[in-house]
Amino acid sequence: MNTQDELQSTISDLVVKGKGILAADESSPTIIKRFKAINVEPTEENRRAYRSLLLATPQLGDYISGVILFEETLTQTTDADIPLPQLAAQQGIVVGIKVDKGFLPLAGATGDNITQGLDGLADRLAGYKQQGARFAKWREVYNISATNPTALGIKANAETLARYAAICQSVGIVPIVEPEVLLDGDHSIDRCYEVIEAVQHAVFHALYRHGVIFECMLLKPSMVIQGKDHPVKATAEEIAEKTLKELRRTVPAAVPSINFLSGGQTPEEATANLNAINALAGNAPWLLSFSYARALQQPVMQSWAGKSENVAVAQAALFKRAKLNGAAQCGSYVVDMENT
Ligand code: 13P
Repeated sequence: MNTQDELQSTISDLVVKGKGILAADESSPTIIKRFKAINVEPTEENRRAYRSLLLATPQLGDYISGVILFEETLTQTTDADIPLPQLAAQQGIVVGIKVDKGFLPLAGATGDNITQGLDGLADRLAGYKQQGARFAKWREVYNISATNPTALGIKANAETLARYAAICQSVGIVPIVEPEVLLDGDHSIDRCYEVIEAVQHAVFHALYRHGVIFECMLLKPSMVIQGKDHPVKATAEEIAEKTLKELRRTVPAAVPSINFLSGGQTPEEATANLNAINALAGNAPWLLSFSYARALQQPVMQSWAGKSENVAVAQAALFKRAKLNGAAQCGSYVVDMENT
């Protein structure tokens, strides 16, 4: 298959009505934090056991079209010695890989960050591809304050995302472009709107300049929501209305799918907000779906708590959230479904 056909076929497998993406690509420091919260030692064996549990969830492929893995998972196997990427593929789930190396402060732009990992990326991608990866993820992180993100931060982060995406496409890997605007802070929903609109405008401008094929990428954005310390909580309808407004203003119709991150929303909020977005979307040109980590995994980790006897109930918790988010992708979720 040539590179263009490879990209196209991965897009067709990932962009499916009623399905979304499971982000299970927590970096080592992040998984330590998540395991600590459930009193589980962050050993390699526990990470392998936990991620095997996720990927072995019966019927997961009914609602999950793709999974983003962390590098080490590509080489791990189940108790029965099946490589984890192969287990995902058996479920009809496309394997993706987080390829960024986390962020550091951006010199010259106090309060802004810049993500590392472009050096040698093409070579690393070739290796991941041999291990079964067909798409990738790269996350840039933006703080909101009175002065952040700065104009320089917006420009430099957009440029980095575009360079990453262009490299991915050149080797037949579909890039997920993730400009994450953080929920931290006491900013209003309108301030969040202003930042996301500016960030995404710059990102698509840079993607265009770098020759990225919009038809063969996915966008993973934050929803437009007030900061978590803001006194007034927006309704799902308000979040949906403002999120759709900025998407229509910044994202070309050629992009096939927009898969939101959950960013610290509760599992129920992330589902209700995605549902409201789809209920209001009318004839939007993109699939509007999810690429959640915490909002899918929180109840799973709590049910599992590191104990093999809890695997089935933890898998049931994952299947439930995947199914409800699948419904939200179609705008057919109602809160009563939480009780089934
Ligand atoms: P959350 O859904 O927990 O925000 O994570 C998504 C993700 O992949 C962040 O990079």
